[in-house]
Amino acid sequence: MSNLIDDLEKLRDEARTALADVIDLEQLDVLRVRYLGKKGDLTAILRGLGELDASERPLVGARSNEVRAALEAWIAERREALAAHALEERIGAEKLDITLPGRAHPIGSQHLISRIRDEIIDVFIGLGYQIVEGPDVELDFYNFDALNHSAQHPARSASDTFYVRDYSGDEHVGPEPSAVLMRTHTSPVQVRTMQEQKPPIYILAPGKVYRRDVADPTHLPQFTQIEGLVVDEDITFADLKGTLDHFVHAIFGPERRTRFRPHFFPFTEPSAEVDVSCGICDASGCRFCGGTGWVEILGCGMVDPNLYRYVDVDAERYTGFAFGMGVERIALLRYDIPDIRMLLEGDMRFLRQF
Ligand code: DAH
Repeated sequence: MSNLIDDLEKLRDEARTALADVIDLEQLDVLRVRYLGKKGDLTAILRGLGELDASERPLVGARSNEVRAALEAWIAERREALAAHALEERIGAEKLDITLPGRAHPIGSQHLISRIRDEIIDVFIGLGYQIVEGPDVELDFYNFDALNHSAQHPARSASDTFYVRDYSGDEHVGPEPSAVLMRTHTSPVQVRTMQEQKPPIYILAPGKVYRRDVADPTHLPQFTQIEGLVVDEDITFADLKGTLDHFVHAIFGPERRTRFRPHFFPFTEPSAEVDVSCGICDASGCRFCGGTGWVEILGCGMVDPNLYRYVDVDAERYTGFAFGMGVERIALLRYDIPDIRMLLEGDMRFLRQF
């Protein structure tokens, strides 16, 4: 009898050690079959029960039940621990580490040309102007005729203007149809606005313009202009000067002065070109301003009453002024950029400075 009890205890101790070393559920199952299965070690020991005295059997039977219960409890305990461990490992492996810094999407910024355009627009919105737009592909009636350009005006020449279609040679019935062209300035918006709106008119018209110029440090075949037009009662040249003074101070700084030089434009009378005092030498003359102390920034004048013939505005009652400026040129002057082409080359080292 003592043999069987010894065997049971040996089995129990061996099993306890083996179960403690098990590392996964498969190994655990192998051990369970080995100790408790039908052909397992415990069954093998109990086979010896038949050879014992009937009086000894209950004790050995009770012992074997204790050992079986202990083994089952250890196996259950190990199974639970291994399952918990396996789950933890899976969660660990599948975990998204949300503590990693995200990948930034560069959002970019406004191009210098757009920014200066918007700054200029803001100045005039502050004065109560309305923003309007006209088409880039324009009729020569608006680009030239209605702006007082004679049929022979040099700006109409094919070497200055991109013509989309010239109808002048076509057979046609009725009035002479216009040529279609890429507008060479934003001034046609003056005429379109006066056709659509009654005075008082206070508008600003930003947009692209096109000329058959070869790109060089001061020219681009496509650039940006901003046109201004005011038509109201009692508008004088003093209003024009005051408005442009305010604009120059807002964009270039309060210390800058303006100078109006008589000039000619077909659609204004009188006309002027406006210079701003050189920001580098304060009008004493340097290389930047060509020794003159001044740099040209725009053209302007009083609306030529002849334009009112094309639109329904009473020339006896209303007067007006107009101005037009190149946005790229203002950007160059404001930031001392030596070559206008740099604005369009897309070199990020240049553009990021602004
Ligand atoms: N349209 C002219 C140009 O492109 C600029 C200009 C001059 C506009 C005088 C005006 C103005 O409105 O009054 O050169």
